[in-house]
Amino acid sequence: MANKWFETVAVAQRRAQKRLPASVYGALIAGSEKGLSSHDNVDSFDQLGLSPHIAGLSKDRRLETTVMGQDMSMPVIISPTGVQAVHPDGEVAVARAATNRGIAMGLSSFASKAIEDVCVVNDKVFFQMYWSGTRDVMLQRLERAKAAGAKGIILTLDWSFANGRDWGSPWIPEKVDLKTAIKLSPQVVSRPRWFLSFARSGHLPALTTPNMASPGEKPPTFFGAYYEWMQSTPASWDDVAWLRAQWNGPFMVKGVGRIDDAKRVVDLGASALSVSNHGGNNLDGTPAPIRMLPAIVDAVGEQIEVVLDGGVRRGSDVVKALALGARAVMIGRAYLWGLAANGQAGVENVLDILRGGIESTMYALGKSSIEDLNRDDVVAPADFYRKLGQ
Ligand SMILES: Cc1cc2nc3c(=O)[nH]c(=O)nc-3n(C[C@H](O)[C@H](O)[C@H](O)COP(=O)(O)O)c2cc1C
Repeated sequence: MANKWFETVAVAQRRAQKRLPASVYGALIAGSEKGLSSHDNVDSFDQLGLSPHIAGLSKDRRLETTVMGQDMSMPVIISPTGVQAVHPDGEVAVARAATNRGIAMGLSSFASKAIEDVCVVNDKVFFQMYWSGTRDVMLQRLERAKAAGAKGIILTLDWSFANGRDWGSPWIPEKVDLKTAIKLSPQVVSRPRWFLSFARSGHLPALTTPNMASPGEKPPTFFGAYYEWMQSTPASWDDVAWLRAQWNGPFMVKGVGRIDDAKRVVDLGASALSVSNHGGNNLDGTPAPIRMLPAIVDAVGEQIEVVLDGGVRRGSDVVKALALGARAVMIGRAYLWGLAANGQAGVENVLDILRGGIESTMYALGKSSIEDLNRDDVVAPADFYRKLGQ
């Protein structure tokens, strides 16, 4: 590829598709069942218009903000995503890119790189946990995250083990050995650059979860960690309150859609919540977060930092979310496409695309600061919003 630079996230996605084996690309596209939610996440942003001015526009644009106590150069956070077999440097490359662009990063407990290796290159890491294992095991993970230098915790609660996908789930091997390499070989032959990048790095794609390891033990495989999680009793609100009380610092609950749940998250003393449907990977039919956002902001926005994730592909999407009350957005697939297409530089490229898009949208809206964005900047069709719960 002569020119590795791309100018939109859609181009990065096409490059990622060309580069990745079909099963790895398929795992990133994901979307459960019919893909209603994963499509709605993106389509709903397209349904929102913008209301520009033509004169009296501002020359300056301030994008800086603070989320969970971390200063950031723009209102975009890396959302945690598990097992980044898209690139040998995985989450370390993403963390470096986030550092270079001055933003915070969520690190999945299903990440392919250890939290210690990620915190060394990024000092604004939020460690993401699921309710998995015993309380003692979860305490160990919290303590490890603290010792590594994590600045906050993201507790993701929207996962109910949805598994069927109408488009056919990709095959994920338990480990990459000779047998699986032979099975994967047609994909590897058609995608040699992906394979070569791993071959050059001297190790095969990591299918282990180092952040789920108990002290002194080998990292469990992805499926081993997933099994522990599947066997765990779902968290009660008391469990969530208990975990929050164990972490003396910023704490986000991710996956909120209902107003009553948002109020409980406030009551247990969380610092932030993310309006999210797990990128459309969980309960299909859950509305897009951007549709649910204003009702949640109206209910709890004065008491807690509200962020949104799901469907953000452009700077104008970020502006729309902020205009509807989000403090910042978190991105998932957008940076994964950049990582797949061009490693750390690809993630930086995607972050620059978003920054450029935020700036030009604010320019047209006549806003000099993200704090000035408001609902009048957005044109929503009748019946666009969704209010879940009371
Ligand atoms: C491949 C993939 C893996 C993910 N893994 C996790 C995870 O381990 N923990 C988590 O909280 N969310 C996970 N998510 C959800 C993201 O954090 C985020 O909610 C979602 O990607 C946002 O939607 P977007 O991809 O449209 O930006 C994952 C998403 C994808 C696409």
